[in-house]
Amino acid sequence: MTDTLLHIRGLKTYFHTFAGVIKAVDGVDFSVDEGEILGVVGESGCGKSVVGFSIMGLTEPPGRIESGEIRFNGVNLLDQDERKMRKIRGQEIAMIFQDPMTSLNPLYTIQDQMEEVMKLHSDMSAEQRKKRCMELLAEVGISQPETRLKNYPHQFSGGMRQRVIIAIALASNPKLVIADEPTTALDVTIQAQILKLMKRLVKEHRTAMILITHDLAVVSEMTDQIMVMYCGRIVEKGTRDDIINRCRHPYTIGLLGSIPKLATRQKRLRQIPGMVPNVMNLPPGCAFAQRCDYARDRCRTNDPELAALEPGHKIACYYPVERYR
Ligand SMILES: Nc1ncnc2c1ncn2[C@@H]1O[C@H](COP(=O)(O)OP(=O)(O)O)[C@@H](O)[C@H]1O
Ligand SMILES: [Mg+2]
Repeated sequence: MTDTLLHIRGLKTYFHTFAGVIKAVDGVDFSVDEGEILGVVGESGCGKSVVGFSIMGLTEPPGRIESGEIRFNGVNLLDQDERKMRKIRGQEIAMIFQDPMTSLNPLYTIQDQMEEVMKLHSDMSAEQRKKRCMELLAEVGISQPETRLKNYPHQFSGGMRQRVIIAIALASNPKLVIADEPTTALDVTIQAQILKLMKRLVKEHRTAMILITHDLAVVSEMTDQIMVMYCGRIVEKGTRDDIINRCRHPYTIGLLGSIPKLATRQKRLRQIPGMVPNVMNLPPGCAFAQRCDYARDRCRTNDPELAALEPGHKIACYYPVERYR
């Protein structure tokens, strides 16, 4: 039996702009077990990053968490003050972003940046810190770690910088890593190497990971569980196998249709028609109805709840598709 590490209930994060209220995350429930990798997938603007920022306690005005509960290791993060959250962010939950250049400071050496976390949250000596930095760099596949520690970020390639970021994220042995589009800025070959490395490391350290990506192909190879988001809600959720091989939501099927490898039997790649609607003025009914090939009248007036199709596999759709192939 594994224990639940993160437990989110009824999370709503809205942005109060002059133009109106953007319901970026609108009632999301999920959990992540210790050592588990959860993929969060959906087109751009679906609220994936806002989920990550909400967990980290980094929602800033005009954004606000309206309601819900984020239990991490039994503690509701929404009840913690900023000082406690800073500690949790430094030690227990780490975040990896898309662009390694924005997370690294160009003016400091890799060693300075790696040691920062250790200085804040441990009482290691200078020698111990350096040793740990070298171990971490070696672990993420950077050769000559002693020399490399003295380098500045611009002396590394994009893929190498992302390896450094991963090393920094792992420096405090966090229980959870939130990786938001960690490989989107990289070439395809490098992307595959980095994903493989991340998977190996989190599994070895038994670190749980939330892997956020717009690319279902990425989560299909990496994750234990997958949740699919659309307009701030979860539309389908299940094991990797439930989603990749047995998905039933027309939106998930649309996302799968845009993966070359999985769509080989089709003559050309399908794209989901239309655009993501503005979450400020969602029409009544299912948010996906206007773009859905399977929508009927009921879908345009009523909003389907997320409900179990079979144990562990949930879907928010009145007319789940039988077979998509
Ligand atoms: N700081 C902000 N101010 C206003 N709206 C925001 C802000 N950050 C995100 N949003 C809105 O929240 C929604 C979800 O955004 P996001 O989580 O970044 O999407 P994703 O990561 O899935 O691409 C989008 O409609 C986006 O425009
Ligand atoms: Mg995002």
